[in-house]
Amino acid sequence: MNLPTVDQAAIDQAVAVLRRGGLVAMPTETVYGLAADACNETAVRSIFAAKGRPTDHPLIVHLACTDDPAGALEHWGQHISDATRALVRAFWPGPLTVVVERSARVLDLVTGGQSTVALRCPSHPWAQALLTRFAEQSGGHALAAPSANRFGALSPTTAAHVWADLGQKPSGRVDLILDAGPCAVGIESTIVDCSCDPPRLLRPGMITEDQLTAVLGRAVLPADAHSPRVSGALPAHYAPHTPLELVDADRFSQRLSELGAQRVAVLAPSSVYLSTAPHWVMARVAPDNAEAYAHQLYALLHELDTSGAQRLLVVRPPQGASWAGLMDRLQRAAAGHQKAAGTSAAEGPPALHPYANHKK
Ligand code: TXA
Ligand code: MG
Repeated sequence: MNLPTVDQAAIDQAVAVLRRGGLVAMPTETVYGLAADACNETAVRSIFAAKGRPTDHPLIVHLACTDDPAGALEHWGQHISDATRALVRAFWPGPLTVVVERSARVLDLVTGGQSTVALRCPSHPWAQALLTRFAEQSGGHALAAPSANRFGALSPTTAAHVWADLGQKPSGRVDLILDAGPCAVGIESTIVDCSCDPPRLLRPGMITEDQLTAVLGRAVLPADAHSPRVSGALPAHYAPHTPLELVDADRFSQRLSELGAQRVAVLAPSSVYLSTAPHWVMARVAPDNAEAYAHQLYALLHELDTSGAQRLLVVRPPQGASWAGLMDRLQRAAAGHQKAAGTSAAEGPPALHPYANHKK
């Protein structure tokens, strides 16, 4: 995908906003982030306020990429393992977040009081331009940034999504929304907890478990009860306002007729539509490869969610490592509405790890 060339004037304006302690919606290759100076406590506090996110949910610190990406780990983290270095050398800059033991310079507010910090070096040229210029002008500061949406809502993959959900001041909540077009990857980064051995997968993404295993030479483990919490691991997260139901392809047609008079918006692969009577207010074709689907997922869900439908019916994507991130986001989007959708608890998302056991 062609990325837009960096608008240096916009980057300079954004750096000035960040240095004053303001909030900038920053394009990354995964989703748009809501960025603030990670070393300015008041600025970081305003991220939580703008999102309506509880302050004990930790943020990812975004770093400028250097020739030695592993070197940056030592600045923000400590006791960095060889496995962490290997992952970072293989996947940075890119859609991988590593959780490591924090160094003393990381604010408590960024980590939610935990002993670890999440670090990511995004590959998007606008994000890198912003991070590099900001680091130069602030003496090496980095940017704390969650996804630029209200807590629990769908993530934004265009500037228009951020405008619609958070808006720009004075009427909205963000000081400056940068617009670099749609995000290439489209779902949030893969998060690996490298503070334990062996590392554990906290959030699946488009860097797959197979790719992580290939670099590490051994399997990454799933998150467990002792893993730190990830707010994206709440069963219901990344959710549209309209109830969303997942259905197997071979039950799609039947389920649509069961829903009868309800206004339904549907998302299914093209093959499914051939044998289905069109009882819907909006229909969108689900791409049949995981990369294309991830790239479009949130834009499709935003569109279906504003179609006036009473219910969203989405065909469950295929199994397999490359689909794990997508399946995770769709299950979470459906989770808040399972009762209404009449599906059984067994079909719901796996409870990754309870919140009660996080490290303080
Ligand atoms: O792709 C992404 O990761 C995007 C872009 C903007 O970089 N960011 C993103 O941030 O998805 P957010 O805050 O929406 O999700 C980050 C997740 C949260 O679920 C948070 O709980 C988890 O990372 N996290 C942050 N610090 C952590 C830590 N120290 N230990 C475990 N999980 C952590
Ligand atoms: Mg988020």
